Amino acid sequence: MNTATLSAGTLALLLLFFSLFFQTFQQTDKLQEEDNPITRFQNYLRINTAHPTPDYLSAISYLKSQAQSIGNLQTQIFEFAPLKPLLLITWKGSNPTLPSILLNSHLDSVPAEPSKWIHSPFSAVRSSDGKIYARGSQDDKCIGMQYLEAIRNLQLKQDFQPLRTIHISYVPDEEIGGFDGAAKFAASKEFRDLNVGFMLDEGQASVNDEFRVFYADRSPWHLIIKAVGMPGHGSKLFDNSAMENLMKSVEVMSRFRENQFDLVKAGLKANSEVISVNPVYMKAGTPSPTGFVMNMQPSEAEAGFDVRLPPTADPDLLRRKIADEWAPATRNMMYQISERGPIRDNMGGPLMTATNGSNPWWAVFENAITTAGGKLAKPEILASTTDARYMRQMGIPTLGFSPMTNTPILLHDHNEFLKDSVYLRGIEIYESIIGSLSSFNEVSTF
Ligand SMILES: *[C@@H]1O[C@H](CO)[C@@H](O)[C@H](O)[C@H]1NC(C)=O
Ligand SMILES: [Zn+2]
Repeated sequence: MNTATLSAGTLALLLLFFSLFFQTFQQTDKLQEEDNPITRFQNYLRINTAHPTPDYLSAISYLKSQAQSIGNLQTQIFEFAPLKPLLLITWKGSNPTLPSILLNSHLDSVPAEPSKWIHSPFSAVRSSDGKIYARGSQDDKCIGMQYLEAIRNLQLKQDFQPLRTIHISYVPDEEIGGFDGAAKFAASKEFRDLNVGFMLDEGQASVNDEFRVFYADRSPWHLIIKAVGMPGHGSKLFDNSAMENLMKSVEVMSRFRENQFDLVKAGLKANSEVISVNPVYMKAGTPSPTGFVMNMQPSEAEAGFDVRLPPTADPDLLRRKIADEWAPATRNMMYQISERGPIRDNMGGPLMTATNGSNPWWAVFENAITTAGGKLAKPEILASTTDARYMRQMGIPTLGFSPMTNTPILLHDHNEFLKDSVYLRGIEIYESIIGSLSSFNEVSTF
């Protein structure tokens, strides 16, 4: 064939072929460019797992596909409560008889009000200075993906083989108490069979360059106190009205709250080391079409409090205080304490993980961070509450840790974000931690 026989039609076909080829090539290139740790994180953030309608199935299917793309990992889905799926990813160690390592994160997040955000809370927009805006970027989808990215790097870049088995759990419902999530998981036979020796769960951002670590949570109680009394005309002075009885209690409780707060203000204790008692609602009065009946003293009055106990507080002492001083029957008071989760472990001890020589995992964890060039702040009690309490209840040493330094604490806030560089640094930190923990060859009798 000589060039003279190339018709215009052939030329057009050739052109078409090249342009198609070029397009495909460009597309592949674009796809490859888009599949990196940051875009994988953004894609996870774009799945709306906010309450009250968290899309657990999409989140689990995404994480499962990530695990499959890494390879060498097994996945299992459990449902300890209907419509509350839990994903477990497992990387088998060379000695599966040794107690395993569990890395936990929750799938859900609190709701977001889009109108108060500069970018839509589920778009995961990355600003020019690297901030990735999304509900869940700090709490706690970062760690959920960082665990996987660290394992990806350990496998693909370092050809690392774990001695101990490593599990990652993705649990539902943490933000609404974890009762159908981590609580049921921790109490299950499936959990016992994992033979977990040490566990990491979420922590909180640090505003300076030291990583924070948490060895305990505070236990939340919902306290409702209620007063009853004779109703009476609004003009009448008489003893023991419901409102008077309730207000006396509020006074006593306010004084207690002030004393606890003073310890914090004086720098003697951290916020998370005292008992907090915060009023959250008051309910009284006789409704009228225009508001409340004003010339009538009601026969019932009620108030609700959010109470948080550090692990060092004595729950029996507080129960007695409530019965004797905050809602005494002698003042026609009733009360109801609803304990939102355990307060003591199965051996009767406080729910905390030792951060000294008595816990051999502590040194491994601490060294792993130092080895990766990180600095660790003094271990703290978390002011709020996480799923970790259910695992500590089972006697499993558990630390709360989210590797975010130089980051404002924005969990549950508008415009929650995490910087790309902080996220990527966190992956390196986890490579060191997971590598060290899974190579740890002692406490085999745990
Ligand atoms: C280690 O810490 C635990 C819990 O905080 C404490 O009870 C124990 O006495 C400490 N042990 C040592 C050896 O310091
Ligand atoms: Zn969280």
